[in-house]
Amino acid sequence: MSVPPTNIAARIPSKHGQLVVEAAPYPHPGPGQIVVRNHAVAINPLDWIIQAEGNLLYGWLKYATVLGTDVSGDVVELGEGVTRFNVGDRVFALAVGTDKDTNTGAEGAFQQYTVVRERLTSPIPDAMSFEEASVLPMAVSTAAAGLFQSDYLGLQLPSAAARSTGETLLVWGGSTSVGSNAIQLAVAAGYEVITTASPKNFDHVSSLGASQVFDYNSPTVIPDIIAALAGRTVAGAISFGTTGSPACVKIMAKARGKKFVAIATPPVDFASLADPSRGRLERARVTVRLIAANIALQFSARTHGVGLKYIFGTNIKNNHVSTAIFSGYLPDALEDGRYAATPKPTIVGHSVGDFQNAMDLQRAGVSATKLVVSLDQVG
Ligand SMILES: NC(=O)c1ccc[n+]([C@@H]2O[C@H](COP(=O)([O-])OP(=O)(O)OC[C@H]3O[C@@H](n4cnc5c(N)ncnc54)[C@H](OP(=O)(O)O)[C@@H]3O)[C@@H](O)[C@H]2O)c1
Repeated sequence: MSVPPTNIAARIPSKHGQLVVEAAPYPHPGPGQIVVRNHAVAINPLDWIIQAEGNLLYGWLKYATVLGTDVSGDVVELGEGVTRFNVGDRVFALAVGTDKDTNTGAEGAFQQYTVVRERLTSPIPDAMSFEEASVLPMAVSTAAAGLFQSDYLGLQLPSAAARSTGETLLVWGGSTSVGSNAIQLAVAAGYEVITTASPKNFDHVSSLGASQVFDYNSPTVIPDIIAALAGRTVAGAISFGTTGSPACVKIMAKARGKKFVAIATPPVDFASLADPSRGRLERARVTVRLIAANIALQFSARTHGVGLKYIFGTNIKNNHVSTAIFSGYLPDALEDGRYAATPKPTIVGHSVGDFQNAMDLQRAGVSATKLVVSLDQVG
């Protein structure tokens, strides 16, 4: 590439700052890295949580930086040693710029050009749009991190010919983006899945392979799932949504098999932190609630002999799970239609200037859809 293209990024200038759209350097790839020209970028709760919480979870971030993890676009430059892709390929990838050991805006998604890692990248089938593919990276990675890493549920990996294990997995929050991918991955790995969702999403999660669905708002949901698991051997539970982890601990306590809960959502809602008028006092309140809820959760788990561990979805970048999923499983499974890009995207913007509004909309809440900014007019 002789003259690098110009780049435009939506940067977060400082802790709690609103995104600012400005010219940014074109990011060059290092070894094993790829530059993607983004055509569609999906929004995750993590994006607005980082903006709202400031120091609580991502205190290491160097500002100004670029948020966002879910990119889909075409390959424009290859770093040294990249073998699976060529310039011009259509790909989706997990961008990991906000991790402690990366901490660089070059690997953020909310811009026109993003550096991604080959091992966190998959080809997009011809029949799939950039917008459809953009829903996958963070949801797949987080689900895979909880399901397949050996220090979490340690399930057998998905494959075209997975044998049935005879074990049942509980996915709490199957209609979340991550949950709907957890259902598909676990079923493809040979596990029976039972899950929770609102009744309007029962058909959706069943279509992904869940064998039984329960309404997580029902007052009897916990005894109902305990009854459903009687006589089955569980492979553990993976939990999405603030009420999921305490409920899963109670259910696993009564189940036979692996008594373990992989937790994606802390038992506290961070949305109130996004309101600047509530200020420092609200941050102190949320911090106290988070500490108290975690102590209660750990105490309950220990009392009931249940193991617990928080998932960090991007951690698979450092182990075999990323290659098993992004190069071993997904390319053929997506191409053959064995794996669905789920949930469906809802397009909420068409330029780099639309990311702040898209994050605000995500924070307001979604149901069985992923909000996506389409950048297809990028020149
Ligand atoms: N630790 C990590 O690395 C990591 C990474 C990614 C995501 N996460 C977390 O994982 C969770 C899911 O993320 P996402 O992007 O998939 O979320 P999402 O799609 O935005 O979640 C929306 C869904 O949440 C469901 N929901 C709301 N409250 C629930 C509850 N109490 N129990 C079960 N389901 C509930 C709703 O289901 P209905 O519409 O059916 O009511 C809705 O469909 C979020 O909390 C997110 O912060 C963690």
